[in-house]
Formats: sequence, structure tokens, C-alpha cells
Amino acid sequence: MAIRSIEDLPIEGKRTFIRVDFNVPLSEGSISDDTRVMAALPTIRHAVARGAKVILASHLGRPKGQVVDSLRLEPVGVRLAELLEIEVIAADDCVGDGVRKLSQDMRDGQLLLLENLRFHKGETANDPDFSEKLASIADVYINDAFGTAHRSHASTVGMVKHFSEKGVGYLIRKELKFLGEALREPKRPFVAVLGGAKVSDKIGVISALLNKADSILVGGAMAYTFLAARGQKVGSSRVERDKVELAKNLMDMAKERKVRLVLPEDHVVAAGPDSSSAEVVEGDIPEGLMGLDIGPRTIEIYGKALASARTVFWNGPMGVFEKEPFSKGTFGVADALAASKAISVVGGGDSAAALRKSGLADKVSHISTGGGASLEFVEGKILPGIAALES
Ligand code: 3PG
Repeated sequence: MAIRSIEDLPIEGKRTFIRVDFNVPLSEGSISDDTRVMAALPTIRHAVARGAKVILASHLGRPKGQVVDSLRLEPVGVRLAELLEIEVIAADDCVGDGVRKLSQDMRDGQLLLLENLRFHKGETANDPDFSEKLASIADVYINDAFGTAHRSHASTVGMVKHFSEKGVGYLIRKELKFLGEALREPKRPFVAVLGGAKVSDKIGVISALLNKADSILVGGAMAYTFLAARGQKVGSSRVERDKVELAKNLMDMAKERKVRLVLPEDHVVAAGPDSSSAEVVEGDIPEGLMGLDIGPRTIEIYGKALASARTVFWNGPMGVFEKEPFSKGTFGVADALAASKAISVVGGGDSAAALRKSGLADKVSHISTGGGASLEFVEGKILPGIAALES
């Protein structure tokens, strides 16, 4: 069954439960990056404009079924009210009599923000009773929490079956369009850039991309596991010893399928990530030194590959980019991506943060709001939060 969208659902005057992903980074009690709040605005604005009684629900952090004051959604409510310039009614829980009363008293076009769903164990346990309680305060269900669509929780899966009127919001539509359509039948050459610490986190996505991409450019600490598998000396770089064999298999698969799996040719090295000075080495990394970023020649090689690409998927930094001496590789990829004419899709997390930090976020086609969710989607896994809306 096709999934419906918010604009096709009868939400006028209806209590409309919108599951959003307001799992935002906080620093000293305030939001340090409001991208996810901004990303939810089109759906919320649409619902308010159509006179729905809008009930917003999200998790924040991992409070494990306990009330944790530092993980209350209050800062999000404040930011939302500023951005929308309307009152945001803040509930002190997400279920119970108080919440029911608040939802019953709502007028059309009003906004109610429920408290952190994960203050209840029933949320992550996908508990049927908790799901029913959540569902009981609304008439229509909308999921716009792409970042949480890979979780089978009460608010993304369990409560959905209680609604006949249900669908997705604009954010999920957009995510599915770019991650789905653009990468399913990519314009070629299709170049993937994969970084991050561990090969083990990326096995699924590498395997999936070996069936689709023309080139996979590897950076980040996981490159050293591949280099070790190729028999190169990597000094004291971070290597997942138990994944070296797997890295070998992935390289063999790439050869068989005629996919270019490209590894760094030079490296920015230092004694450790806290070193303030760094040097560049080509090829083997000497004993006692650790690779912490891709080197200038590799940046050039990856830049050229990106310049001629027509589709790009990027996930994961090229080095310890939070530290200035080891940041050039990640920012170099961000620059090359921004300059390319390719359809460029960035899979959340650190790569998205690097693009924003360099002021280049609007130069790429799409930055996913999902970290884990976008990877699972690209891997070809079915996201439970999306599948629940099909039935
Ligand atoms: C995320 O930040 O990736 C999502 O909000 C999901 O959060 P979780 O990994 O705690 O389930």
C-alpha cells in the first residue's frame, strides 16, 4: 500500500500526533545545533496552517525509562516558539491524565509539545499498553522523524496500528526522495566517500555500495584497517585487527565487481590525536606515529574524483576533524563536494557538521537528518518506522 503524505490527510480540526526527531545536541542546557528542529518546520507549519491541533512528540538522548532533568524537551519548545512565533504548550509528560486534558482543551492551530518519550520504558520497548496510551490522545498520526525511523519503538511503530488516518510529513518525503530515488538509479559516475572510525560500522553500507558505486573513496581511521589488509605499515594507527580479513574480502569483492576502492596515498601523522604538531608521510607510516587525516595528495585525488562525479554519497569524516591539524582532509572533501555539479547526498552526523562548519551546507543537494537511519536505508534495510505506515 502506498504511504500517504500529510497533505493528503484530513487534519483540519483533528488532533494530529506528529512524531518528530528533536534529538538535538545540547550544551549547558541550550541547543548547540538546531538543524533537526529547522528540518521539522515545514510539516509543523503546514499542520498549523490547516488548523490541526498539533501534538508533537520526540525523544531526546537515552534516558532509559527514567526522568532525567537535563534531557527535558524544554529548550526545544523555547526554540520552536521563537522560530514559529506562536505559543508552544509544553506538557510535563507524554501520557496520562494531564496530557489527555491538555489535548482535549486544544484549539485548532494550537501546538502541544509532549515531554521526552524515553522517560517511559514503554517507548523503546515498543510496549503495547504505552503505544495505546500515546495513540489515545490523537485522531491522525504523522511520522516525520526520519532520524528515528530505524527504531522499532512505540511512537514509531507500536502506536501506528491504532490509526486509520496516517502518513509521513515533508521531511521523511524529502529524505526518501534523495536517499531512495537519487541513489537507487544514480547518474554515473557514482562516487561514494566513506570515512569514520570503524570498518565494522560501515560493513553493510560498503557491501551495498559495492553493487552500486563506480568508486568508493575511503578515509578516516577505517582506512588503516584496509591499508593493513593490503600489507602496508600503518605505525600505531587505529586498526581493527579482527576486521583485517573482512577488509581483504571487501577489496576482493570490489575488484571482482570492477568498483574502484581507493585508499589514501599519504597521511597526516602525529604521536596521537592530542599532538599539536603533525607531519605528512607518503605510503608506509613509521612506528610510533599514527595516521590522523588523509594527506594533501589524497585530498587532490579524492577532489578530482568528486569533480567528475554525477552522483555522490558521503558519510564519515576523513580524519580527527575536530582538531585543527587533522581537519584538512574532511574540509577538503566538503569543498570538493560543494564545488561539484553532482547530485550530492550527505548521510548525517560528522560529515554534515563539517559542511555546516565550513558554511557549505546549502551547496549540496541533501544533508540527511538521520545518522544511523540514513546508513540503514542506503544499506537497503527496511526502516520499521516507514514500513509501519504501509500496512
Ligand atoms: C539519532 O540521533 O540517530 C536518532 O535520534 C536516534 O537516536 P538513538 O540512536 O538514540 O535511537
